[in-house]
Amino acid sequence: MCGIIGYLGERAAAPIIMESLKRLEYRGYDSAGVAIYNEDADKTSVVKSAAKVDTLVDRLTEDMPAGRLGIGHTRWATHGRPTVINAHPHTDCTNRIMVIHNGIIENFAELKRGLQSRGHVFVSETDTEVVPHLIEEHFKGDLVAAVRESLVQVRGAYAMAIFSQHDPDLLIGARLNAPLVVGIGEKEWFIASDITAIIPYTKKVLLLGEGEMVSISSLGPEVSTLDGSAVKPRIIEVKWDISQAQKGGYPHFMAKEINEGAQAVSNALRGRLTEEGVVAFEEFGLTDRQLLKVRDIKMVAAGTSFYAALLGKYIIEDLARIPVEVEPASEFRYRQPIIDRDTLVVGVSQSGETADTLAAIREARRREARVISITNVVGSSMALESDGVIYLHAGPEIGVASTKTFIAHVVCLYLLGIRLAAVRHRLPPERLRELAADLKRLPDAVHTVLERAETLQAMARKYARYQNFMYIGRGINYPVALEGALKLKEISYLHAEGYAAGELKHGPIALLDKSFPVFAIATAGATTEKIVSNIQEALARDAPVVALVSQGDPVLDEMTSDRIEVPAVAEFLSPIPNVVALQLFAYFVASERGCDVDQPRNLAKSVTVE
Ligand code: F6R
Repeated sequence: MCGIIGYLGERAAAPIIMESLKRLEYRGYDSAGVAIYNEDADKTSVVKSAAKVDTLVDRLTEDMPAGRLGIGHTRWATHGRPTVINAHPHTDCTNRIMVIHNGIIENFAELKRGLQSRGHVFVSETDTEVVPHLIEEHFKGDLVAAVRESLVQVRGAYAMAIFSQHDPDLLIGARLNAPLVVGIGEKEWFIASDITAIIPYTKKVLLLGEGEMVSISSLGPEVSTLDGSAVKPRIIEVKWDISQAQKGGYPHFMAKEINEGAQAVSNALRGRLTEEGVVAFEEFGLTDRQLLKVRDIKMVAAGTSFYAALLGKYIIEDLARIPVEVEPASEFRYRQPIIDRDTLVVGVSQSGETADTLAAIREARRREARVISITNVVGSSMALESDGVIYLHAGPEIGVASTKTFIAHVVCLYLLGIRLAAVRHRLPPERLRELAADLKRLPDAVHTVLERAETLQAMARKYARYQNFMYIGRGINYPVALEGALKLKEISYLHAEGYAAGELKHGPIALLDKSFPVFAIATAGATTEKIVSNIQEALARDAPVVALVSQGDPVLDEMTSDRIEVPAVAEFLSPIPNVVALQLFAYFVASERGCDVDQPRNLAKSVTVE
């Protein structure tokens, strides 16, 4: 989704904004633009491009605008095609007020009609353009008041950065249902969609709450609500460091992040699990007493996080014997979910900003359920709006396709399952000890899979020419099949479906022939023999089969399928090493096909609109 960066300080704004825009690229975008104010000339330079940020950088490098105040934007088109005119910043009739925006202004048509009837001239098809015109109309010498009065008229979602030549010592930010943070440096300040954009400059971050505005001058930031009440700033120190947001020698962020899988497991476990299997979370927010009262669990999530949550159902129901329902957040919020104060609602989201998931947990809180979020981003909206939070501690994930955070989510769900089971005395001490030991061995298993990258690459080369794939898995590896298919389709643009292996014969088998390979997750477990039968059924229809099998397992020796061996681990924990193999396979197929794996077409890292 759109990326926002704003700068006010003592250094030249343009190079900083350019660099930050590069860091925002991962969010997904189709056009970009900047506005830099030059105080000596009392002039604002606006440069836009309907192509990648690099094009903008080239143009600005030839003629770098001077100035210490500026804003920059990467646009993911919602209202209006990705053209130069529709790219942000947008301005008013006098070209003095500059606005960049992430979100959707739902009542823009009505506002635009009113503004046009009062003589305002619009140049773009965007919803955003109403904002500078509203500010122009309300401006009577106080820019902050004009922004406030304008935003009160606006319905929908926004994160914005605004400046005006009327008051060039001010950079203003505001947010409602879209993320925005403020970076505090040495006599310089930043407004950004996320921390990744500003991590090279500062680790001190002011978290802006829902419906809050910040006005930054050379005296520093002042936070207030839209109705003008002052708000005490919440400032945190970010623990990420800049190397985590760089490729570190890998060709793509995705490759780096897959390779961080073992580390992601260790980080999610660190300090939370004793050898006796006792789990403690630092900011969990719920007491044992409250956990004991939990009658049922609803999990809400989207995309890859939805599949992690689906795994959570298998994990928690098995360990704690509490009924768990998993629902796409986008569906949950628009029906009448049966929840009350004895329901625990778990929001699963890497970014903590996904609009659907955020809305779902708000709905759950409105219905008095207890809510915890599992997220990677400290201070994200979901973290701030839940009763408790479990952080992934996976470090920034820049590749659009989630990889290491899927793993970290699942590890956190194992821990949550153990914690819920423990308060109910569901697991004997020896089972808890065994689980703890098995979980602590997982990073080694992930390492072993990563060491098989060459085998997976060779397999990917062989299969990259096919147009369709069927992923099948059973039991706890069924959600892994779904995730494997999603990974492949989103980065290689190939058609891939995930199915519970037993379902194949109930319809999808009709698709299979020699042009439709099956990727079977057939690692050792209670249903291995069943999945072997499903593989036989696929082979009998001439479908090529790639099977993921446990190391040393002779299970498929007799068959004419391709095999990828992964280390043998307890079936209950096998989704972790298995998914790493599937991530690598998807990555290599997409690379083989020359796809832009870090920024797949049409996708955004953090989907902050409905
Ligand atoms: C897929 C992917 C998306 C996200 C989804 C939810 O690889 O990255 O499907 O999983 O948009 O995002 P979060 O987890 O930030 O809520």
